[in-house]
Parts: sequence; structure tokens; C-alpha cells
Amino acid sequence: MADEEDSLDRLGQYALRYVKPGHTIGLGTGRAASAFIRALGASNIKVRGVPTSGLAEDLGRSVGIPIVTLAEAEKIDIDFDGADEVDSRLNLIKGYGGALVREKIVAASSRRFIVLVGAEKLVPKLGHRGSLPVEVVPFGLALVTKKIKALGMKPRLREKDGNEFVTDNGNLILDCGLKPLANPARLERELHAIPGVVGTGLFLGMADTVLIAEKSGKIAVRKR
Ligand code: A5P
Repeated sequence: MADEEDSLDRLGQYALRYVKPGHTIGLGTGRAASAFIRALGASNIKVRGVPTSGLAEDLGRSVGIPIVTLAEAEKIDIDFDGADEVDSRLNLIKGYGGALVREKIVAASSRRFIVLVGAEKLVPKLGHRGSLPVEVVPFGLALVTKKIKALGMKPRLREKDGNEFVTDNGNLILDCGLKPLANPARLERELHAIPGVVGTGLFLGMADTVLIAEKSGKIAVRKR
């Protein structure tokens, strides 16, 4: 665990080379993104941050990064975030931490999207770890659950401390059990066609660079 934290801290530190004074930065959610936010705060590079979650906002403020909303920012220079799976084309599954919808909005608002992961997140095909988070409007839960089952997946309502997990947007998450995907783009279209689906953890064609903390301690850089 200490080793993993060290390697994420090194990754966060390494990512600072892409940041320039005056940049507006997307602040991701999760352990890798948090390591970057801490490194950015400690660096004293003058930037503004657009957070992808309440947790990222609290952490950003606590390390002294001025926080702005997406509307105030107008444009984001680079978004830095983690991922749960990365395939060889730099397509991603995100959202195990529950912030997928805001993460996707911030990534889509950014000129560059740089992803920070440990090597264990690299997969031959998306779906390898067996789960895809989907954010759902509470009113539509029954319909969405039925339709997702009809697509051949096994949806499970995410819980936290014995209660439904509620996202920063006031929605629910279905963690959908699935097999490795032959055609993620088709699944993305099928899921978005279901009324009540707000967003999915599939981030296709969005990342331009992935920074990988390898077990050896080296950092590998993959570009689209
Ligand atoms: C949050 O919703 C997620 O998308 C995270 O970015 C992702 O789960 C990676 O998190 P870790 O860096 O904690 O593994």
C-alpha cells in the first residue's frame, strides 16, 4: 500500500511537467488524481482548478488551488484524472469512484486530457475487470435496470455504508457486470439510448496521453 502511494505520488509529481503558470486545470477524482492535486498545490504554480467532484474541490482548496466553476473557466487547458481501465487505444473505463459524469464533462471541456494510472489498469479489452459504472436518474432506475439486463449485463445498485450511493448530481450508480467488450462504441450508443441513463464510465477517444506508473518505478508515457 505504501509502495502504491509512493508510485502515485511520483506520477503526480511527473505530471507537473505539463502544467504552465496561468493554466486552467481539470482536477480529477480518485487516488491518482488526488496525488496530482497534492503535487500541484505543493508546486505553487499559479493555476486555477475546475474540480470533477466535491472531493476534488475540497482537496484542491485544502492545498491552495483557486477553484473556479466550469462556466467561470470558459476553457480548460489540461484535465488530469485517473482511470479504472485503459486499453491499447487509450480508451478508458472510469467511475469506480462515482464521479464519472462530471469527470466526462470536464474531460470534454479540456484541450488535453492526461490520464494517470498504475500499470495494473492496463487491459487487453475494456470490461476486463468485469464492471462498468452507469449513472442513472433515480426515477428511471427500474426501467434502466431492465434494459441493461436485456443488453446482457448484470446491473447492481451501488451502495455505501448500507445506503444507496448518491452521486454529486443526486443520481444513482448501477455497476454493470459485463464481459470484455468487442465493441465499446456500440455499447455506449445502446446505453445512451435508454431514458434515465445520465452517463456511462466509457471514455472513448477522449484521452490523448496516459502516464503509467510501472512496477519498476519508471513512468511510461503513451500518446494517442
Ligand atoms: C472516479 O469516479 C474514477 O473515475 C477514478 O478516476 C478512477 O476510479 C480511478 O481512481 P483511482 O486512481 O483511485 O484508482
